[in-house]
Amino acid sequence: MEKKNINKARILKNEALGPEIYQMVLEVGDTGEAVPGQFVNLYCKDGARLLPRAISICEVDRKAGTFRLIYKVLGRGTEEFTQLKENEEIDWLGPLGSGFTLNTEDREILLIGGGVGVPPLLELAKRLTGKKRVLLGFENESILTGDFSKVAAEVAVATTSGTEGIKGTVMDLLEQKEYLPDRIYSCGPKGMLKAVKDWARERNIPAELSMEERMACGIGACLVCTCKINEGPDPRDWNYQRVCKDGPVFNAEEVMFE
Ligand SMILES: Cc1cc2nc3c(=O)[nH]c(=O)nc-3n(C[C@H](O)[C@H](O)[C@H](O)COP(=O)(O)OP(=O)(O)OC[C@H]3O[C@@H](n4cnc5c(N)ncnc54)[C@H](O)[C@@H]3O)c2cc1C
Ligand code: FES
Repeated sequence: MEKKNINKARILKNEALGPEIYQMVLEVGDTGEAVPGQFVNLYCKDGARLLPRAISICEVDRKAGTFRLIYKVLGRGTEEFTQLKENEEIDWLGPLGSGFTLNTEDREILLIGGGVGVPPLLELAKRLTGKKRVLLGFENESILTGDFSKVAAEVAVATTSGTEGIKGTVMDLLEQKEYLPDRIYSCGPKGMLKAVKDWARERNIPAELSMEERMACGIGACLVCTCKINEGPDPRDWNYQRVCKDGPVFNAEEVMFE
């Protein structure tokens, strides 16, 4: 894998937030025009793992030149990241992909996140000016609820185990109240995104979804991460688009779930 344009960042923090969940703060110097919904590619030091790991930007501090990332330990790459110490360097590339649109005219906004899809919604919540309600779903322990409480009018949690919030999913939270937002933003597992799309469509509410697909190159070159996107009024007008380059954020109406 070509390592052109890859930069070095200093790790300011890398600590466990909960079982298998870590937060990493990277000093990158210039954060660029990073927008919520974009991600960075992190590279492993072990030469056997050449492909980068995509991690969403959870928070940006332009002044300090830092990104806050939250990651879940899934396989060997993320396991390797847990071993990195403060002041060590890591290779990274970014910010990558398209972000969420920041619609300043929206007054009521609903943010719906699931699992490790929750982190990018935090920077989004900080930047949106309307009234934000946040619905978060997890298997067991929640993450970032305190951070969301500082910037949102309401934060509700559901866990499938019932250990926190209501027992169930974010779709159960949606049924608990009469939500009628101007826009929905969502990031999380595919099944949840499909349910959010259907819910929004039934009520004619615009929604943006951040899609997660397995990635390889992470920069638009290999086509591993494609998803089906509708490109016209006719459902037959669809094409494959790359989640890493054309997304990860798409209008819910365009995303074709199989
Ligand atoms: C746009 C985007 C944003 C993401 N943001 C986050 C985040 O903020 N926090 C977080 O914990 N996880 C996030 N992920 C998922 C994260 O990229 C994977 O969990 C991680 O790459 C797994 O690497 P691994 O070596 O531990 O696992 P392995 O299964 O060993 O990975 C093997 C290969 O498959 C790829 N891969 C495996 N699972 C995924 C996946 N779900 N998505 C993409 N590639 C995958 C890896 O990059 C690697 O190249 C995001 C994924 C995408 C596409
Ligand atoms: S991961 Fe290679 S094109 Fe998206």
